[in-house]
Order: sequence, then C-alpha cells, then structure tokens
Amino acid sequence: MNKPKILVARSVFPETIARLEAHFEVESNQDDQSWSKAQLIQKLQGKQGAFTTGSERIDAEVLAACPELKICANMAVGYNNFDVDAMTARGVLATNAPDVLTETTADFGFALLMATARRITESEHFLRAGKWQKWSYDMFAGSDIHGATLGIIGMGRIGQGIARRGAHGFGMKVIYHNRSRLDAQLEAECKASYATKEELLKTADHVVLVVPYSAASHHTIGAAELALMKPTATLVNIARGGIVDDAALAAALRDKRIAAAGLDVFEGEPNVHPALLGVPNVVLTPHIASATIPTRRAMAELAADNLVGFLVDGKPVTPLNPA
Ligand code: DGY
Repeated sequence: MNKPKILVARSVFPETIARLEAHFEVESNQDDQSWSKAQLIQKLQGKQGAFTTGSERIDAEVLAACPELKICANMAVGYNNFDVDAMTARGVLATNAPDVLTETTADFGFALLMATARRITESEHFLRAGKWQKWSYDMFAGSDIHGATLGIIGMGRIGQGIARRGAHGFGMKVIYHNRSRLDAQLEAECKASYATKEELLKTADHVVLVVPYSAASHHTIGAAELALMKPTATLVNIARGGIVDDAALAAALRDKRIAAAGLDVFEGEPNVHPALLGVPNVVLTPHIASATIPTRRAMAELAADNLVGFLVDGKPVTPLNPA
C-alpha cells in the first residue's frame, strides 16, 4: 500500500524525520529554506499532511490550492498561523502542541523578567564595550523582583506557571487578568487574585503577557495601556508579536514612561521594529521561550504523534477543530 505523503515545512530533529519516514513518504525542508507562500503551496501539492511551525501561514488561499491536504500539525502551542475556520470549512484538521512546553516557557518568561528588571543585558553590553571604569552606587540599578507585584495578562497554563514561580519562589504578590476567572482552587494554588486590566496595569511592578494572539488580543498593550503603567514598571511579552504595539512601546521606553521591557516576540518577526533596536532599556530575544532541546524534542514528537495518529490510526492527539 502506498504511504501517505507529507511535507515537513521546516528543519527538525533527524529522529523525528526517521520516525515520520516509517509511516509516510516525507518531503522535508532539512536545509531550512525560507519559503514564500507560492513555494509552500507548490511543496504541498499531493501531500495529505503537513508538519508546520508558527512560520507557515495556512489560510484559505493555501487550502484552495492544496485539495489533497487533510491535516496540518503545528510544532507550537500557538496556532495563529492557522486560519482554523477556513481549515474547518475545508475539512482540514489543525493540531497544536500544548502542555509539553509549559514549564520551559514559564522558566523563560521568568528569566526574561529578571533580565529586564535587573538590566542584565544592558549592563553586559556596557561591560563588553569596555566602558566599566569604576563602581557607582546607582550603576545599572534596576527594580526588585522579590516582594514586587507581578501582573499576568493571560492566565492559561504558562501564565499559571509564571504565577507559581513568582508567588512561591520570589514572594511576589500576583494579580492576573484573563478572559475568565480561574476557579478558586487554582487561584489559591497560584496565589493569584483577579484584577481588571486597568487595575493590573496601574498597580503591577512587572507585567507579563501570555495571552494567545487573535484579532481580539491585537495590541492588548498600546499607547493608552502603557500610559496607565507605573514609570518604574517593566513589561515582558512572551506571547506573540502583535499583542503589543511595538512602535508605541519603543516610544514609551525612549521617553522613560516605563522603565524597561523584555520581548521574545515581535510584530512582523523576524523583523524587529527599528525603534526598539535603538533603545537600551529593552531585552530582545529571537522567539526562544520554548527552546530547550528536551522541550523542542517533545514538541516535535507531539506534532509527529498527531500526523501518525490521524493519517494512520484515524485519531489525532491534540486536535483544534472537528475536521
Ligand atoms: C509556541 O509553541 O507557540 C511557541 O511560541 C513556539 O512557536
């Protein structure tokens, strides 16, 4: 019997490819070429499945041009690269890779918060540039993390992981804003209390964004929200580009309307707004919050599980739609 054909759209662990090859005829992008949409469509011709990352946009145009496609398995928990409604309408299954990256991503959110509040990269750049001449009482003085108020916008699994680290590890007061309140037991476990977005922005010393991207969450933080924050506050975005208005944030950082920011995700990444590159009080990382080898392996495995589960056994592991 002919094996189903799949496309692996970005380079991935060789053992993931080997596992997929046991079940499928695999075309993979192990050279990690950047494909245009037209190239992606061309590569998807005749394929029943696609192993995707957040970089491949699967929309109505792609779906219309790839009639044999039955499943797209994202090696990411976020899936704003999928038009899930269009996929459902075309009967194409969408799957993501939740849970396996929760703790790793929460670790990184906390690391970015600490680097931002304590000005770690800014001071390292200063030292490497040979500018360190003497000790000074206020040199790179940042803000405290222990005992401070941590405001988390988006209290899913990763947000809860960050809350636990802050409350249990650093004695922070944790407030959160979310579409819906957590149940009382989960709030108690996270030692977190609910706040409106406005209350949170006005009172938090550190604001961390972990909200999924959608039209509704576009520019959750813009000029108006930044204006509510304390001038000593920091802002961390490990969610998605587009949750923050990067131009407005760069202006707020430049004018010291907030103290600092830590960003792992950007509007239009891998491009970064030039104004952000020009301000010193921002820590910038290239979308690496889930990047540890064990976690990336687990994400790849889960995407592969979904392809095998659906195309071979008829049962995906983490479906996003009923297709
Ligand atoms: C995710 O899993 O959504 C991470 O952002 C990696 O893309």
